[in-house]
Amino acid sequence: MEARLNFNENPFGFPKELFLKVAQEMDGDYIARYTEAPTPELREALVDYIRETGRANFIDGDWITVTPGADGAIQLLMDLRPKRVVLFPPTYFYYYTFAEGMQLHYEEFPLIDDMKLPEVDLGEGDMVFIPNPNNPTGHIFKDEEILRLLNSPAIVVVDEAYFEFSWNTAVQLLKEYENLVILRTFSKAFAFAGQRFGYIIANPSMMERIEKVRDEYNMSSFIMKLAVEILKNREVFLGKIKEIEMERKRLEEELKKIGIEVFPSQTNFLYFKIKNAPEVQKRLAERKVYVRALWGGIRVTIGKREENDMFLAALKGILE
Ligand SMILES: Cc1ncc(COP(=O)(O)O)c(C=O)c1O
Repeated sequence: MEARLNFNENPFGFPKELFLKVAQEMDGDYIARYTEAPTPELREALVDYIRETGRANFIDGDWITVTPGADGAIQLLMDLRPKRVVLFPPTYFYYYTFAEGMQLHYEEFPLIDDMKLPEVDLGEGDMVFIPNPNNPTGHIFKDEEILRLLNSPAIVVVDEAYFEFSWNTAVQLLKEYENLVILRTFSKAFAFAGQRFGYIIANPSMMERIEKVRDEYNMSSFIMKLAVEILKNREVFLGKIKEIEMERKRLEEELKKIGIEVFPSQTNFLYFKIKNAPEVQKRLAERKVYVRALWGGIRVTIGKREENDMFLAALKGILE
C-alpha cells in the first residue's frame, strides 16, 4: 500500500456510475462536433450553484466562463499579459511555473508570519494571485486583507480552489469590484482532478477581456455534460467533505500529541513547519508516503483513514 498525499486530491474517488450514465447518453454526433464552451445547460447549472452558495443573485450567465482546471484559468488570466504578477509566498507553486513559462515579470512579497498579507503598493498593470484558503498553509485571509488589495488598480485573482471546504467566498464583492476575478475547480471537492474542469467568475466587463484570449472550444463536451451531472448530484460529494474534515481534525490532534503545531486549515490538507522538510519528504517517500515539502514545511493531503495512519506512523518513525 502507498499513501498519495501530495496533490490535494479527493481520496474517495469519483462515482463511476455517474461517469457511465453520462457516457451512455452521448451520441456519436455530439461526440464528433466541436462544442462551444460552456454549453447553455452548464452555464445555467454553474450560475445556480454560485448564486446558492454565495447568496449572489446578481450573478448571471455572462459572469462566468470555463477552463481546463483552475490551472487553465490561471494560464488564461496570465494571457492578459499583466506588466507584473504579484505573489505572496508561501503560495500556490504553479503561479510561479506559469509566470516563468509565459515570461512574465513577477515579484514576491512574503506573508507576515506566513499568515498575514503585507502592505504592497499596487498599480495599473499589476495582477495579484491569492489563494483563499491559502495553499500550502490552508488558512483563510481576512475580508479586510482582500479588500485592501481590491482598493487598488490591480486585477486581483482570488483562487477559491478549496471553496467547498471553507464556504468562504469573495463572490459578494464582485458587485462592487470590477477588478476582482474568482477561480474555482472541480478537482478537489468533486473528485474530478484527472478530468480538468475549472471555472472563472468575474464582472461582465472583465469577462469580456478574458473571453478575447480564450478559445471558445477549449473544453471537452463530455466533461461539460458530466459537470452538469456533478452539480445536480452535489450532495453526494459534499457529504464526503464532512468525512475529510473529521479526518483532518483527528490528524491535527495526533500531530499535536507528537509536538507538531499545524496551521489552521479550512481545506483538505494540513501544513506544518519542520526542520529539513525536503529530507522528511524523502524519508517518507521511502516508506511509500508521498507528501510535499514546501517553504520550509510539509503539506499533507487528508486521505482515507488508513492512509493518514500510514503517514502518522511513518512520520513518528522518522522523528524518533
Ligand atoms: C490554490 C490552487 N489553485 C489551483 C489549483 C489547480 O487546480 P486544477 O486541478 O483545477 O487545475 C490547485 C491544485 O492543487 C490549487 O491548490
